[in-house]
Amino acid sequence: VKKLLVDVDCGVDDAQAIMVALAAPDVQVLGITCVSGNTSVDNVCRNVLRVLHVCQHLEIPVFRGASKPILENTLSAGHFHGLDGLGDAPDPEAPGLEMIQREGAVAAMIRIASEHAGEVSLVATGPLTNLALAVRIDPTFPELLKGLYIMGGNTESRGNCTVCAEFNFAADPEAAHIVLNEFSCPTYIASWEFTCRHKLPWEFCDGWLAQDSEKARFMKRIFRHSMEACNDGTFDKELVAGSGFVSCDSYAMAAAIDPAFVTASRRVAVTVELTGAYTRGMMVLDTLELLKRRHKAFILEKVDLERFKALMMAALK
Ligand code: BDR
Ligand code: CA
Repeated sequence: VKKLLVDVDCGVDDAQAIMVALAAPDVQVLGITCVSGNTSVDNVCRNVLRVLHVCQHLEIPVFRGASKPILENTLSAGHFHGLDGLGDAPDPEAPGLEMIQREGAVAAMIRIASEHAGEVSLVATGPLTNLALAVRIDPTFPELLKGLYIMGGNTESRGNCTVCAEFNFAADPEAAHIVLNEFSCPTYIASWEFTCRHKLPWEFCDGWLAQDSEKARFMKRIFRHSMEACNDGTFDKELVAGSGFVSCDSYAMAAAIDPAFVTASRRVAVTVELTGAYTRGMMVLDTLELLKRRHKAFILEKVDLERFKALMMAALK
């Protein structure tokens, strides 16, 4: 059984990634930690509970984490995910926040990782604030992990929220810097450009949402807002608009579930730009090895799209 800890800023694609994990065989989600990003951390907590409710997995503990990035709170993603993070589609059945654990996300991450030392893969699909705080509190935290799977950063400086930065890194560059520089466990990065090169064609999405299940009906409701936003001209036209949907966070999840889904032959030391006027939050790849860093990350390059589609299909069955 593959043991996962999932750290999310639950927008629409985070919800998809969680649903993928819950439907995958031989995967155990030990806990879900929440961080502010796509929406406020309270909305993130609510959204995770909504996802667990529709998937009938409310037994999975959910923890509230950082309510702000380490330094500056400059970004929001309401235009894409909706102000509530899940497409502003009201849900009267949503479980209340009293279901959130009293233990905080950072303490829970460290505890769960130590209880299953060497066995847990951490999948991070939001700003890396909670992970950075965890390593500050317990410097051995990264060593306890089997692997770290990050959706974030970019390999060709193509931005999706600032000129050249990807949202999760741009939302908390200091946290991304701490994690990329200090986490020594095997690290896998699903960059923005990588995810965009593996779009789910719209025809696939139609069939995906047309499945006869509560989960598919739920997805249809929360998904409408971001499907429309894909074509509203906000995004890089070559990478995003037109031919399909990019479920960014689901690719990092797929890699954590089964490495056979992806090719990641490229290993590079990576860091994050903190000070550039145009480049703050941009991922920097040290291909020339000038930084002399021992720890290198695996950069995801290719997805087996047919297998990925099957995984996505199963998530809404
Ligand atoms: C990332 O930013 C968020 O809006 C998505 O949920 C994803 O994690 C893509 O840049
Ligand atoms: Ca996310």
